[in-house]
Amino acid sequence: MEALAIQGGTPVRTKPWPEWPIYGEEEERLLLEVLRSGKWGGVGRIKLPELEEKFAAFHDAKYAVATVNGTIGITVALKAAGVKPGDEVIMPPYTFIATATSALLFGAIPVFADVETDTLLLDPEKVTAAITPKTKAIVTVHLAGAPSNMTRLKELADQHGLALIEDAAQAVGAQWEGRGVGALGDAGTFSFQSSKNINAGEGGMILSNNKELADMAWSIANVGRVRDGAWYQHDHIGWNLRMTEFQAAVLLGQMMRLEEQMEKRERNARLLTELLNEIDGIETMRRDPRITRHAYHLYMFKLAPDAATKVDKNEVIRRLNAEGIPALPGYVSLNRNAAVLREVEQLTGERREYDCPVSERASEKEVLWLQQAMLLAEEEDMHDIARAVAKVMKSL
Ligand SMILES: Cc1ncc(COP(=O)(O)O)c(C=O)c1O
Repeated sequence: MEALAIQGGTPVRTKPWPEWPIYGEEEERLLLEVLRSGKWGGVGRIKLPELEEKFAAFHDAKYAVATVNGTIGITVALKAAGVKPGDEVIMPPYTFIATATSALLFGAIPVFADVETDTLLLDPEKVTAAITPKTKAIVTVHLAGAPSNMTRLKELADQHGLALIEDAAQAVGAQWEGRGVGALGDAGTFSFQSSKNINAGEGGMILSNNKELADMAWSIANVGRVRDGAWYQHDHIGWNLRMTEFQAAVLLGQMMRLEEQMEKRERNARLLTELLNEIDGIETMRRDPRITRHAYHLYMFKLAPDAATKVDKNEVIRRLNAEGIPALPGYVSLNRNAAVLREVEQLTGERREYDCPVSERASEKEVLWLQQAMLLAEEEDMHDIARAVAKVMKSL
């Protein structure tokens, strides 16, 4: 057997992976344009409306409202959809903590419904079981860039009179049945934080096809002003949650590269899935055929249940890292996060427990992540990943 790199053998790979972010003359030109215009924020903006229009069009949405970041985007979307302090918001536990803290920020209560075993996306049937008279909204997460089952979730939301918000922080450009994510439910939110598929260091966006909701979101993010109102006319309670012109300029530049990068990620992910499917003890994610475009913010794969009981996921990661593959362990299931549980207890006066075995098992024993920029490497680099995974799995 080939010696593992961790035991002094030759690593499968020493070549570096593509760096992130990728930028060039477009971003430089647009940034300088903003700098020299002297219009960096406030009123009379140029880049922000252009970005909102292009981003909405790219996702088949009617309205867009830019925000400081993705977390606040979810908060604003929930508030604009009428969610109030004390209301329950159903969401998956296998997500970034911001999905929950965005609700907790104004005293709404996250309620965790488990994810599907083979996709790690919110399980609509678990959502049904979590609905109570206090439920006001569902926040579904298009994790890793894979749209969750919007058809079934929309049916459920409509049937129970709930708002449906898409946390599409990781899913810029993804599509469900040929339509962009973000405005498939009542509203959707995106993040442009440094690791994201288009980024400006920080930033967020809300999309919606509902004019009333979009106007309310705009107002909340613009100190309660109304679009055509006077400067000191504050019809609602809101805050300054706006993006700067600099961020909008960088994002317009990033959007010019998006199409090509999305195609490359999809192509490489398809190949990687084929290669990993050949390896004993490894499972890849099921892709619903209704996902007509996957954003691949992450490439997730799993140790098969048998392998996961026998081997320690963190040991697999340690060995892969030594072979030159920067695999990551991913999230801790949010229903196991003490800070979240404590906050929920303070807000509700009761200690809540959530039954989310799929998410917990994924987090503790099964799931490995690769970051999106790795999928911007070449075909031969996908073979390196598969070779390293096969070598490590054989060693265990
Ligand atoms: C699923 C998910 N939701 C929300 C966020 C929050 O976005 P931001 O960091 O822009 O506040 C992120 C990313 O950071 C995310 O991955």
